[in-house]
Amino acid sequence: MAERENFGSKLGATLAAAGSAVGLGNIWRFPVETGQNGGAAYIIIYIACIILLGIPIMSSEFLIGRATHCNTAGAYNKLAPGTQWKWVGRLGVLSGFLIYCYYSVVAGWTLAYSLLAICNQFADKGPDDYVRVFQDFASNPFLPVVCMAAFFITTHLVVVRGVKQGIEKFSKLMMPALFIITVILVFCSLNLPGAGKGVEFLLKPDFSKITTSTVLNAMGQAFFSLSLGLGCLCTYASYFNRDTNLMKTTVSVCTIDTLVALMAGFIIFPAVFNVGMKLGPDDVGPSLIFITLPNVFHQAFAGAPALGYIFSVMFYILLMLAALTSTISIHEVVNAYVSEEFHIRRSRSALIVTLVCMFIGVCCALSFGVLSDFTIFGMTLFDLFDYIASNILLPIGGMLIGVFTGWRLDRKLCYDQLTNGGTIRAPYFPLLRFCLRYVIPLAIGAILFNQFGFA
Ligand code: PHE
Repeated sequence: MAERENFGSKLGATLAAAGSAVGLGNIWRFPVETGQNGGAAYIIIYIACIILLGIPIMSSEFLIGRATHCNTAGAYNKLAPGTQWKWVGRLGVLSGFLIYCYYSVVAGWTLAYSLLAICNQFADKGPDDYVRVFQDFASNPFLPVVCMAAFFITTHLVVVRGVKQGIEKFSKLMMPALFIITVILVFCSLNLPGAGKGVEFLLKPDFSKITTSTVLNAMGQAFFSLSLGLGCLCTYASYFNRDTNLMKTTVSVCTIDTLVALMAGFIIFPAVFNVGMKLGPDDVGPSLIFITLPNVFHQAFAGAPALGYIFSVMFYILLMLAALTSTISIHEVVNAYVSEEFHIRRSRSALIVTLVCMFIGVCCALSFGVLSDFTIFGMTLFDLFDYIASNILLPIGGMLIGVFTGWRLDRKLCYDQLTNGGTIRAPYFPLLRFCLRYVIPLAIGAILFNQFGFA
């Protein structure tokens, strides 16, 4: 087997992990959740979840990956040989596989909408036209499949180039581009007339809207957005060097991810309030991004169509880049597992993963059209995969990772990893262990309880 690669630089490692975290979850899911859960009050709870759950679990994934230099399933085998803990890693690979199949469908839509925006297809349309454009597109038997395939192929081409030449190089190029586009869009949006109302919504908390389900939603969102619970960051950390400061990387990734999510809010809400709209119950998931927003952008920039054009193009390209850095990381979780556990050459295992996921992805893409009547437990394949992965497998995975690090792993091994063998300080260590041992199992237990309908 070829020698295992590492990331070439600390910056590259941080940007790759941030690329995994920043994705459709930040730009599409976060603003929707914020809109429906009381604005600023939701944001405060979300940030608390990032600090109390996100940071401990992410640092656990990092230390497990870096301590073993293995794919996520192999990592548990190495740290707890002969036990059932390997199932935590395998569960992660399964979650990655499911997420990859349906996430690529939406990722394909971002490609299609970037092209539509470039071809100025959102001009001169009324609100109903945007619904029609999306429905026609999503139910078409070919276009979404072609766009999705293009996404799979691009992801594949990056992953086969390897960790340093592929993932790291690509992240170093894409992440700054993504950040610049985000900042420009925030600036444009904040300059729209009436933007102040959107800003007020994001900054003035209305605690009366907070219920237990708001708190639970915020936790779920934090997981999805930080790519936690499936060993994605554990796999990336297996390529970290010995001198990478794990806690510093954790804090950087969480900060970048939260900043991008907040900036997405500052792009979307000023524009939505500018046209005097409120996010309704129908503006959830894809419909916000692919139906509501083209309409909002069109109306918001009615006085300056050229600016509206540039805004839309940049927005959809931003979404596409964000989705791509995330699909690369999901592919890598599954690819590292298949390649290392079954001793298959990396390029070959990458091809297997791409082909299998593409095949299942086609079925997910068609669940908006010809396969819309094919349902399991009353859900289309797309919804089923989303539900199982995000609502069940990721929280269970996150909880088990926390329990593994807090209760099973040797305390000294954790301390050594976080302090790089005692060379850096870790005054936070007792607090981190407390979160891993008590806060995480209790908090995530509550999410699961809620999701299974017992609460
Ligand atoms: N974090 C990504 C996003 O916000 C999604 C993702 C989930 C990526 C799990 C990798 C693993 O869109």
